[in-house]
Amino acid sequence: MGRLDNKVAIITGAASGMGLSGAQIFVREGASVVLTDVVEDKLNKAAEEIKKNGGKATAIKLDVTDPENWQQVADRTIELYGKIDILVNNAGIHIAKGILDTDMETWNKVMDIDATSVWLGMKIVIPFMQKNGSGSIVNTSSIGALVGGTATGWSAAYSAAKGAVRSLTKFAAQEFGKDHIRVNSVHPGSTFTGMAQEAGIKTKEEMGKVYDGKAALPPFVADADDIGYAYLYLASDEANFVTGEELVVDGGWTTNS
Ligand SMILES: NC(=O)c1ccc[n+]([C@@H]2O[C@H](COP(=O)([O-])OP(=O)(O)OC[C@H]3O[C@@H](n4cnc5c(N)ncnc54)[C@H](O)[C@@H]3O)[C@@H](O)[C@H]2O)c1
Repeated sequence: MGRLDNKVAIITGAASGMGLSGAQIFVREGASVVLTDVVEDKLNKAAEEIKKNGGKATAIKLDVTDPENWQQVADRTIELYGKIDILVNNAGIHIAKGILDTDMETWNKVMDIDATSVWLGMKIVIPFMQKNGSGSIVNTSSIGALVGGTATGWSAAYSAAKGAVRSLTKFAAQEFGKDHIRVNSVHPGSTFTGMAQEAGIKTKEEMGKVYDGKAALPPFVADADDIGYAYLYLASDEANFVTGEELVVDGGWTTNS
């Protein structure tokens, strides 16, 4: 028996990194997963790979900043699978600029993709969960919502956006508890994914050297799967009485801050 048997999940940013890991883990645990992302070729490849291995998966293009696109994804998920049990708001970007270097365009872009999208996704999907009588939402924040400096990758806008995800999660947990909809945030520390590669880091070992002395646990960097399994716990019925929580997956980094 799988931990997500008969569940239907939408995951954003699922073409890469933690979103892709979450999709693969959810499918292995019995869920039907709608993988979404803006990067269509990688997204389609990811869903095809899962289907080839016998998993239930569909790829749908979604720009998380676009309300109409969100509605299309939710409607298509209902058409295909009849309900939505799980939403993982995982998509995100990072731009390393401090307060003085941040321009309006950078600020708005990071806030739109990393924070506004989370509100938008919940706004569109929660009515379907209400109809269904329950749901679980997992919002990806960061340890950059808890402490400053290196934990934010030195990004002012990212730190603000991830802080917003943390507090909005708690607000939503209060607003929709009566509907049996649980809303939690996950706070990864440094994790070797596409985001790290875009910042020019080539290997996990190289990234570990940068973060040695931050996390307590060697190799000081997480794998995408370390976060995917956190998504799994919060999405599953095992977390039946857990809502408004922040699950920190950082190898102990913030316990020393
Ligand atoms: N990697 C880390 O060290 C780290 C640490 C803390 C938090 N996070 C967060 O984890 C989440 C996943 O990031 P990751 O590390 O797996 O990075 P990643 O770059 O591998 O994956 C992010 C995905 O989001 C997608 N995306 C970007 N803009 C989008 C948009 N407008 N609409 C839809 N999809 C979009 C990208 O195409 C990509 O596939 C992000 O929210 C990120 O901020 C990452």
